Amino acid sequence: MSTESPLDAAWSRLDALAAKPGGRRITPLFAADADRARRFTVTLDDLALDLSKTAIDEAALDALIGLADAAGLESFRARLFAGEAVNATEGRAAMHMALRAAADAGFHAALPGGIDDASALAAEERAHMRDFVAAMHAGRILGATGERFTHVLNIGIGGSDLGPRMATEALTTARAPIMQARFLSNVDGHAFAQIARELDPARTLVLVASKTFTTQETATNAAAARAWIAAALGEAAVARHFAALSTNLRGTAAFGIAPDRVFGFRDWVGGRFSLWSSIGLSIALAAGWDAFQAMLDGAASMDRHFRTAPWRENLPVLLGLAGIWHVNALGCATHCVLAYDDRLRRFPAFLQQLEMESNGKSVRLDGGKARGATCPVVFGEPGTNAQHSFMQLVHQGPAVIPVDFILAAEPDHDRPEAHRILAANVFAQAEALLRGKSLDAVRAEMAKAGASPAEIDRIAPHRVFTGERPSITILFRRLDPFSLGRLIALYEHKVAVQGCIWGINSFDQWGVELGKVLASGILPELSPGATPGSHDASTAALIARFHALRGETA
Ligand code: F6P
Repeated sequence: MSTESPLDAAWSRLDALAAKPGGRRITPLFAADADRARRFTVTLDDLALDLSKTAIDEAALDALIGLADAAGLESFRARLFAGEAVNATEGRAAMHMALRAAADAGFHAALPGGIDDASALAAEERAHMRDFVAAMHAGRILGATGERFTHVLNIGIGGSDLGPRMATEALTTARAPIMQARFLSNVDGHAFAQIARELDPARTLVLVASKTFTTQETATNAAAARAWIAAALGEAAVARHFAALSTNLRGTAAFGIAPDRVFGFRDWVGGRFSLWSSIGLSIALAAGWDAFQAMLDGAASMDRHFRTAPWRENLPVLLGLAGIWHVNALGCATHCVLAYDDRLRRFPAFLQQLEMESNGKSVRLDGGKARGATCPVVFGEPGTNAQHSFMQLVHQGPAVIPVDFILAAEPDHDRPEAHRILAANVFAQAEALLRGKSLDAVRAEMAKAGASPAEIDRIAPHRVFTGERPSITILFRRLDPFSLGRLIALYEHKVAVQGCIWGINSFDQWGVELGKVLASGILPELSPGATPGSHDASTAALIARFHALRGETA
């Protein structure tokens, strides 16, 4: 009798399908099923997710769904929406859905000290933000010199930067922003120097965005911005020119920010899920409150879908399962995201944190080792730019790299031909990856073009495309605040689905801690004349070389 657990059996079933001869080929699936494109496309309103250009067939889909069931996806989803402490290593819920749900949604969220009325807290803070945004836009809040604020500078890093930056760019590229938003994240002083050169302190509102309010980079940049404002406008101007977005009220008070200028949220909002909270204030100031609210509404529509749709019609579940197929069944270690939309130019950077900080883990929640690979390396660029840089590797490199193509059917500019060119390239790239080009086809083409037999022998192999390379296409009508919110929430839930199946906690990030601790130990050693610490030989030599290059004695 087999002692295999239902979960192990589900994994074995998937492995067996992947190992089946021809189990990675996609074109035969189209040949065998004239209805494949329709059957493997799922929709939510105008949003379509086309999974047909993957090697997932009915048997693979059954196996993947069997895996989701064996991993307890249904009860995980119920616990997530019930606000249970799914982030078990930190004893917290992951209740970012409350931030975008209606005030009467009734969401609660667990914290180590008890349970929050998440919906009520979210509604309260939304009203606080909305009033502030209205007052700013109406010119009822003015800078220290009596001028209107024209610029908002968000100082934050990771989730306190990537989400608001990505969304603000997405929403203010086609429409002029109400306030100009700038983002300062890197502790590298060059970044602040550029900001200080370009912005007028008298017209700049500074948002210090930090969940913990202890992050070294943000604290350093906030101190620099504070000195910049004080030098230009006097110390008294700091109170008018600063606001804080944080869970740490003691920290914001110590920085000197008045309580009514603190926009709070709670620990059940993870940093990479925080753009829906007060961390999104820069989005609302730049794009307007209505746009921010519509973005929340779009995300809420995806939450309802994720919570209620059966697995076979559930977009985040299917997107997550397709990722599991590629990582675990086919062994793909990387994943490429190509948004054919310049407004989404920071979307891959946002997804890198969302996916890799969430699921870049190898220990399961039960303390055991993950069964195999987990999160792939995520990378991307806007299309068509990517085609002229790294797509060579995706088409002809030895590794298979699944691609997500993202496209809005209608642009928000008045050059329809440019948009058709953009769209033609999406469809062509996905088709090229699927179809490839055989050696025979290349040889025939070269012969027709008059190449000599020797030339054909020499060049033809370089022009072969193996094809059978998977891609997923996400197509929707228009990129607007609603569809942006829906798109982001689609990926958020995809990540949660995958974390559940891999058995890991998608909501902590212990892996960023060690480097932070070591950096604070090394920092004093970088002062001139400091006593060297105890390090490996390479690190010790590099620190000594750093001092020498700066003409300092260590
Ligand atoms: O170092 C990683 C991290 O903790 C992220 O998870 C987070 O988004 C970022 O740092 C910024 O943290 P905070 O908002 O607390 O400054």
